[in-house]
Amino acid sequence: MKPRIAVIGVGRMGSALVSAFLGQGHGVDIWNRTRAKCEPLAAKGARIAETVRDAAAAADIVVVNVNDYAASDALLRKEEVTRALSGKLLVQLTSGSPSQAREQATWARRNDIAYLDGAIMGTPDFIGTPGCTILYAGPSELFERHKPVFLALGGNPQYVGSDVGHASALDSALLVYMWGALFGALQGAAICEAEGVSLEALTGYVKATTPVVDGAVADLFARIRQRRFGADEQTLATMEIHAGALQHVLAICDERGIPRGVPAAFDQLFQKAILAGDGQADFAALHRFMRPA
Ligand SMILES: NC(=O)c1ccc[n+]([C@@H]2O[C@H](COP(=O)([O-])OP(=O)(O)OC[C@H]3O[C@@H](n4cnc5c(N)ncnc54)[C@H](OP(=O)(O)O)[C@@H]3O)[C@@H](O)[C@H]2O)c1
Repeated sequence: MKPRIAVIGVGRMGSALVSAFLGQGHGVDIWNRTRAKCEPLAAKGARIAETVRDAAAAADIVVVNVNDYAASDALLRKEEVTRALSGKLLVQLTSGSPSQAREQATWARRNDIAYLDGAIMGTPDFIGTPGCTILYAGPSELFERHKPVFLALGGNPQYVGSDVGHASALDSALLVYMWGALFGALQGAAICEAEGVSLEALTGYVKATTPVVDGAVADLFARIRQRRFGADEQTLATMEIHAGALQHVLAICDERGIPRGVPAAFDQLFQKAILAGDGQADFAALHRFMRPA
């Protein structure tokens, strides 16, 4: 018999989670602040609970997916809800910070609630697909025991360690990496539109040059790990070469009236490094300007 799941919060992501659980034959109890969002899921077989307590009491595993931890805390940290959660597994899939995850784990432990903190590395359309990665942190025994349940949400559930803050930490790292690409794509699209280059062409060339970017990122991580910041025979381009190329980007932006905020932020870092004497160093030398103050 598959465990019964409660899903608290059925916004865009929560609804996808419920559909995936239902699709894999789990009984699902749902609660949402705005009840109307539950109706389409009830039509698929989910049971609408009147209260968070009722949903938690009915299920074996409780999954939470609301905007943030403040909203989650307001829902869960009521005596009757905490009591209903006692002895069960709580899986927090709401995005948050490592310290919020650790604080929640402490609260859960005090209330005899088994706790895993998760981070969803995909959009709702990825949920339930083989390529969907969700990160889980907390006791490994809990992850291993419930892995078949997590597989309902996607083909790539990943255990990232016993430090319960590590799913959120990786989430932040991967999000900022994604936004680097998305903001770069926005700026690149603005340049192409201003210069009369089609976005179809840009799309194709982004794809064609992806291996170059992936290689540079892998090289950067390896250098940071090995603390190899100076230029050496494997250096792909020095700081000054990077900074020089960026000046052309800034020039196009100025000529065409495109806001230069994103590349200007990159330039600030390049100039700081060059001023500090790293002009001939590897790009990885920027690492020292990224460390906590
Ligand atoms: N969408 C994505 O691509 C994506 C990807 C990865 C992770 N996530 C994470 O998943 C979580 C939900 O995102 P979403 O895209 O599903 O957002 P959403 O569609 O805006 O849904 C937000 C959910 O949170 C509930 N909520 C917000 N404030 C609340 C409160 N004070 N009390 C009770 N319920 C409250 C909403 O209830 P109402 O319906 O009543 O407003 C709704 O169920 C976020 O932490 C987000 O970072 C989302």
